[in-house]
Amino acid sequence: MNIAYATQYGNQVIGDTLEVLQRYEDNSIDLVMTSPPFALLRVKEYGNEDQVNYVRWLSKFAKLVHRKLKPTGSFIIDLGGAYKRGLPVRSLYNFRIPIEFCDRLGFYLAEDFYWYNPSKLPSPIEWVNKRKIRVKDAVNNVWWFSKTPYPKADVTKVLAPYSERMKKLLENPEAYYSPKERPSGHNISSNFNNNGGAIPPNLLQIPNSESNSNYLANCKKAGLRGHPARYPQKLPEFFIKYLTDKDDLVVDIFGGSNTTGFTAEQLKRNWVSIELDPSYAAISSFRFLPKGMSERDLLNVYYSILSGKKVEIMDFLSNDRHVPSVTKKFVVQRLKDMQSLPTLDKSQQLVLENLEKAESVLA
Ligand SMILES: C[S@@+](CC[C@H](N)C(=O)[O-])C[C@H]1O[C@@H](n2cnc3c(N)ncnc32)[C@H](O)[C@@H]1O
Repeated sequence: MNIAYATQYGNQVIGDTLEVLQRYEDNSIDLVMTSPPFALLRVKEYGNEDQVNYVRWLSKFAKLVHRKLKPTGSFIIDLGGAYKRGLPVRSLYNFRIPIEFCDRLGFYLAEDFYWYNPSKLPSPIEWVNKRKIRVKDAVNNVWWFSKTPYPKADVTKVLAPYSERMKKLLENPEAYYSPKERPSGHNISSNFNNNGGAIPPNLLQIPNSESNSNYLANCKKAGLRGHPARYPQKLPEFFIKYLTDKDDLVVDIFGGSNTTGFTAEQLKRNWVSIELDPSYAAISSFRFLPKGMSERDLLNVYYSILSGKKVEIMDFLSNDRHVPSVTKKFVVQRLKDMQSLPTLDKSQQLVLENLEKAESVLA
């Protein structure tokens, strides 16, 4: 297995999830938390399957996930909606996913969540900004699938802060509430317990406006472009806290910049992140590296990974050791090895391209 880097709790793997995930034991994963490449009309730089094939394509991954999840496990998929090409009407692809997964793959839809991103820019420009006939699309579907009707879940770990009104009510119920029957027939008494917070709704309001992270700071310093479609840390944080315990295994099958693994690490969950593009996988190590690192060290980590060396992040941080410099000789040798292969799969082709880049950059 091609491991890009390892931390105290996890591994970033480079490869195609359909191959990599096969190697994990069946019934071994507590949570798969992910955001696949969306079936958007404008083809993103990291590639999208067209909408017709999308459900079929994603089902291949879901089938495998079903096998690898523990019976108590959960599968969370963040999916953005899309318009049909050239028309102000929506594609139904994101609704076909739960129907397909539940009817054909044996999943249960434990709950449908909606992620509202208040910082989302208006789009598509034609229907929203120019013609002004549609509103800003700022909500993603976040489907929570489970293998059984009773996946592990504890809502007390993700309680939302009480509103100011509720806090006052808890302090002095008599002054703020008189028991009466509601129109629904519910009879609410004045016995309020302080449970430490309110039960959160299935609408998660989380801005996607990260600007201050080690990831972005280190990308900037190294002169490398970060991943274009990251989700905010608060999204995986909610589900990891809610659906797993310390030392459980969390997997992201479309790792990207490894927001999931980084969040799992902070919450002391074991994690595996799988990413097809070696460059995205290598840059995701920057999340775990301090802001004060030099450009040279950052690039050394990056090119070490691209050259096929596994970087031990914890060793590096705890011993304050320099990453061994990747020598041009090493890169040239790896290039020769790869060029001599009769065929290259998609992932190997990306490695080859990045090695060529490394060869031209390294002195
Ligand atoms: C929407 S991005 C994930 C972003 C991630 N949630 C984050 O916060 O950075 C989807 C990622 O899936 C990767 N990908 C696509 N097909 C893959 C496959 N077969 N195996 C592994 N990764 C894949 C893409 O390269 C892309 O980086």
